[in-house]
Amino acid sequence: MNVSKVMVVGAGQMGSGIAQVCAQAGYQVLLNDLKQELIERGLGVINKNLSRNVEKGRMTAEEKQDVLGLLIPSTDLSDAKDVDLVIEAAVENMEIKSKIFAQLDEFAPAHTILASNTSSLPITEIAAVTKRPEKVIGMHFMNPVPVMKLVEIIRGLATADEVYQVIEEMTKTLKKVPVEVNDFPGFVSNRVLMPMINEAIYTLYEGVATKEAIDEVMKLGMNHPMGPLTLADFIGLDTCLYIMETLHEGFGDDKYRPCPLLRKYVKAGWLGKKTGRGFYTYE
Ligand SMILES: NC(=O)c1ccc[n+]([C@@H]2O[C@H](COP(=O)([O-])OP(=O)(O)OC[C@H]3O[C@@H](n4cnc5c(N)ncnc54)[C@H](O)[C@@H]3O)[C@@H](O)[C@H]2O)c1
Repeated sequence: MNVSKVMVVGAGQMGSGIAQVCAQAGYQVLLNDLKQELIERGLGVINKNLSRNVEKGRMTAEEKQDVLGLLIPSTDLSDAKDVDLVIEAAVENMEIKSKIFAQLDEFAPAHTILASNTSSLPITEIAAVTKRPEKVIGMHFMNPVPVMKLVEIIRGLATADEVYQVIEEMTKTLKKVPVEVNDFPGFVSNRVLMPMINEAIYTLYEGVATKEAIDEVMKLGMNHPMGPLTLADFIGLDTCLYIMETLHEGFGDDKYRPCPLLRKYVKAGWLGKKTGRGFYTYE
């Protein structure tokens, strides 16, 4: 099967990045969100990223226009009627994702592969709301998408081998490196990363050190490019909380309990960089 037209659902930080790399690889991309202004915000981010590439001599102004020309706004999931692949990157919430997948299953043609960029929710459960579980797969991009090389490719219980192969090949055309992972809570990346971030939040909560000190220890001591609290702000504290809850519920092990301070920040609407305030404040 050949993928030529893609729909990306959700034009937030991940969806806009995924749409950008798909368009840069020459795919026609429908960028879908609930409202036109949310799509425009996503397109604005893509425009800015591409302009930076032009300034740095990584692409010409003409190439930038060609990429932008491949991006088509959509506020209606029924636009999936003529796409070969949908990559869903809406919020990390099972109820919302289930509704989206049930609708996509209705609107998309039989051959269309439905992928989710979920950070931690079970692909098998998302697939079960469709009549095509063999064509449902996880494509877990890393943030920021245009920069990070990895895509975790998650096989659900029913994912067909052929579908896995198509997605592995497609990922390579995006100049990304696919890594195969089975469907367990948090997959590999977030099963290892998120408990570390949660522990850093506990360290702050218990007054072991200041936020700056915690980040400094992990940067200078462990050679991490950014500290765990800064990283949590970049990921989004709501997303971090969803992932910890998924690990906690999925494994039934209290070692994954989310830190009360993380819950408090999310309840306050301090979601990190995207809302201007998380552990740190942003312009
Ligand atoms: N932030 C990260 O670092 C990161 C990394 C990898 C994967 N993810 C996953 O990617 C997904 C998106 O995360 P994000 O950080 O881009 O979130 P975000 O909040 O920036 O964007 C989510 C977008 O989805 C839209 N949306 C919500 N419901 C929708 C619907 N029914 N139909 C269409 N659009 C809808 C919202 O309007 C918003 O624009 C989540 O599943 C998250 O777990 C996030």
